[in-house]
Amino acid sequence: MAEPLLTLERVTAGYGSALVLHDVSLTVPENGSLALLGRNGVGKSTLLMTIMGYTQLRDGRLTWRGRDISHLPPHARATSGIGWVAQEREIFPSLTVEENLTVASRPGAWDLAAVYKLFPRLNERSRNLGNQLSGGEQQMLAIARALMTNPALILLDEPFEGLAPVIVDELTDAIKAMLADRRVAIILVEQHTDIALELTTEAVVLERGAVAHRAPSAELQNDLATLDRLVGLRVAAGE
Ligand SMILES: Nc1ncnc2c1ncn2[C@@H]1O[C@H](COP(=O)(O)OP(=O)(O)O)[C@@H](O)[C@H]1O
Ligand SMILES: [Mg+2]
Repeated sequence: MAEPLLTLERVTAGYGSALVLHDVSLTVPENGSLALLGRNGVGKSTLLMTIMGYTQLRDGRLTWRGRDISHLPPHARATSGIGWVAQEREIFPSLTVEENLTVASRPGAWDLAAVYKLFPRLNERSRNLGNQLSGGEQQMLAIARALMTNPALILLDEPFEGLAPVIVDELTDAIKAMLADRRVAIILVEQHTDIALELTTEAVVLERGAVAHRAPSAELQNDLATLDRLVGLRVAAGE
């Protein structure tokens, strides 16, 4: 069993006095991949934001590489190797693709050449401004920019949301290649359940801010009763 990279122990957190997450425990090993599933509003984004330190932690503990980070500010969590791709993507509109990438870069294996190899489209668009990109290209740029910080863990919040099926396929292949490289772990929040389970080895399903189910992704893929009950059945991208 690999050394845990990130551990959440009985995490209870929310916004101000409004608690959203209750007693959430989970572990991500080095190079691990975890799908975080559940219906709209169950607290998936809140969980990612809690890992980054953007919510109020009421109870429980977060450990990163054996160190308690429960009270570390977001910036310190980011520099210690946790990358976050927010649901809103947050591309700098007036910077070029290449500037968006280099502004975030930190030394490591993921450099311009490596992310351009993963996303050839970004290479073609390197001199375009952020606001000249399609939704799919913006998502690629958001992921590439997170990789440029050379994180050990990357948190992806609904990367396929609103994208055309052909772009979803392209992005799925890139994420597969990124994981095959075995230098980064992911937590993937996604409404396209089938793709999320295909890309990951473990899965956690939230319901009303608590863990309702956990299973290996390959097992959950075939557990249609649980998927129907906790997620709602969905077919492939572009249904
Ligand atoms: N900034 C915020 N302030 C207060 N409540 C919020 C905020 N963001 C989300 N919430 C609430 O937290 C709950 C979980 O939301 P969210 O984590 O976005 O769910 P999901 O990502 O699973 O759709 C919802 O009830 C939502 O209204
Ligand atoms: Mg969300």
